[in-house]
Amino acid sequence: MNCDTVELLPNPAFLMQSMRHIGYTLETALADIIDNSIAAEASVISVQYRWNDANPWIAIIDDGCGMSSEGIKEAMRFGGEICPTENRSSSDLGRFGLGLKTASLSQCKRLTVISKQNGSVSSCIWDVDALAEAAAPKWNALLPSVEMLKKDPVIEKLLHRLDEISSGTIVIWQKLDNLSVASKKGSAESNFAEAMVRASEHMGLVFHRFFVMEKGSKVIKIDFNGTVVEGMNPFGMAVPARQELQDETITLEGQKIEIQPFILPHHSKVSKKDYEKYGGEDGYLHNQGFYVYRNRRLIIKGTWFRIIPKTELHKLIRIRIDIPNSLDHLWQLDVKKSNASPPLAVLNRLKELLPSLSDRGKRPYTKRGSRAISDVVYIWRREFANNKVSYVINEEHPFVKTLVTNENGEVDSQKLSYLRIISGAFPAESFHVDVNNDTKTVIVSAAQQDEMENAVRKLISSCREMGLEKAAIWDMMCKNELPVSKERQEELLEEEFNG
Ligand SMILES: Nc1ncnc2c1ncn2[C@@H]1O[C@H](COP(=O)(O)OP(=O)(O)OP(=O)(O)O)[C@@H](O)[C@H]1O
Ligand SMILES: [Mg+2]
Repeated sequence: MNCDTVELLPNPAFLMQSMRHIGYTLETALADIIDNSIAAEASVISVQYRWNDANPWIAIIDDGCGMSSEGIKEAMRFGGEICPTENRSSSDLGRFGLGLKTASLSQCKRLTVISKQNGSVSSCIWDVDALAEAAAPKWNALLPSVEMLKKDPVIEKLLHRLDEISSGTIVIWQKLDNLSVASKKGSAESNFAEAMVRASEHMGLVFHRFFVMEKGSKVIKIDFNGTVVEGMNPFGMAVPARQELQDETITLEGQKIEIQPFILPHHSKVSKKDYEKYGGEDGYLHNQGFYVYRNRRLIIKGTWFRIIPKTELHKLIRIRIDIPNSLDHLWQLDVKKSNASPPLAVLNRLKELLPSLSDRGKRPYTKRGSRAISDVVYIWRREFANNKVSYVINEEHPFVKTLVTNENGEVDSQKLSYLRIISGAFPAESFHVDVNNDTKTVIVSAAQQDEMENAVRKLISSCREMGLEKAAIWDMMCKNELPVSKERQEELLEEEFNG
């Protein structure tokens, strides 16, 4: 448009203040800095932190390609030299030219970057206070010499780390004013230490795929104050009880999006320790859903993108989605790399895929009460018709038959109707609340072990009285759900026949 223009420069101090509240957490901010180290092809990324007499600092040190003195200035520019919509290298984890600054300054008021490349060391500092105190509003970063840097004892010590590597970068956060570690519970120092442990666990999840070789990829190592971060693969261990279902590829604008569904093992199939580990702090109910990885880095975890609600029956389903960085524009990736929405074409395909997946994910739960999928006669039966589900005490089960049959071997219709009323009064609502309480509530049988064993003993002896052979009784036992383990059932049968 051919008209007058006016250059409206933002006030640097005010804009910087506002950008500090973009919504990063300590975890997402650290992950953004580690993204840069991985993009710079680092092999070892070391996060160092000290409480430092209530002047805490955090440093992220990598042995990546480092930056030249010109490179570091570009890196510190808000909205650096690479345009977000321009093609980046296919392994780049960055996009916006902001992360280094916005992530760091969301947590601290002084960001120092020191980098080594081709034997020379360069540095640059953004200091929020210095900007606010400047006589004129300018986007002036500080360019200290190495000698000036050494005057700060924290930085002086960290600088030695660069002697050990041919190239690399140190990002230092000082004046950490956003830690929120003051609380009634525990000292600020111990809260800081705890926050850093939580952050290291977050890195273990977000970057777990970089800790193992995948299709010839480089393996990286992250440590927090010297403790190596353990990868946390949300799809669990590759054991037979974990189902890896048919994968699928969606092609969009010539780029591939890969979808790999998993069904995690039912708690009866793995140790309590492993079951709890993969449930995570928030539990299976919360952690079900899609896990979206951009260039193998986890961006979003445990969401169904509102396609279906999170329910108890789907809680073992987790679906890995791999997206390339070339489709960022379609996924509406956010600056913090902690959110994105699937493009419509992908969303529609996921909607189509979900019914069959969710059916398979439900099986470990519905199988126990369903006759349709199994020949075993369970004590409870799940009946499903016209979108209505009911749980009924199974009149075919031998225990139930014993209960409702009179001395003459006839079904006592009065007893049977009482039983139907009792089973119809099953407190489904409160059961639902209990199971949705996830790993914290364990539902146990009110019957004692010896009561259950006695019932099985009685069943065996009454079958024997009816003239059944041992093999036939065992066959009957295998066809009916009995409340003791198979091994114990075998022992009880032996006891009956061999004393
Ligand atoms: N540890 C590092 N080693 C080498 N270069 C780095 C490092 N950290 C940042 N850089 C350089 O600084 C640039 C700016 O980083 P910044 O995180 O601000 O933006 P980005 O990574 O390009 O995009 P995004 O905002 O999505 O993170 C990077 O593109 C990279 O060239
Ligand atoms: Mg970045």
